[in-house]
Amino acid sequence: MTSCCREPEQRAGALCRVEDVPDGGSRTVSAGAQSVILVRRGEAVWGYLNRCPHFSITLGAAHGGVLTYEGQVMMCAHHSALFRFEDGQCIEGPCQGAALDPYPVRIAAGVVYPA
Ligand code: FES
Repeated sequence: MTSCCREPEQRAGALCRVEDVPDGGSRTVSAGAQSVILVRRGEAVWGYLNRCPHFSITLGAAHGGVLTYEGQVMMCAHHSALFRFEDGQCIEGPCQGAALDPYPVRIAAGVVYPA
């Protein structure tokens, strides 16, 4: 017997549900062999590869995501670089002017997928 109503995480290619990403916060997910940071503000979700342009290491996970501040920026746990949600640009810190690599996502029926 097959089921018609699988959980969103089990749908082919799904990263997670929108509601699994805290509003104003982040969540890290696996996309194949890559670690991806998802950040959310309201209904908007952005994705970035979890690799800091400063030392090419992960930003450092905290509680399943990376550190965020006021729903505006992500912070690398290693040397406190700040990256904007909307474009991944580093606006303060040792790699100011660099940016996180985007990982485009799309939302369908409350589920986040790679774009
Ligand atoms: S490794 Fe991210 S700020 Fe240094």
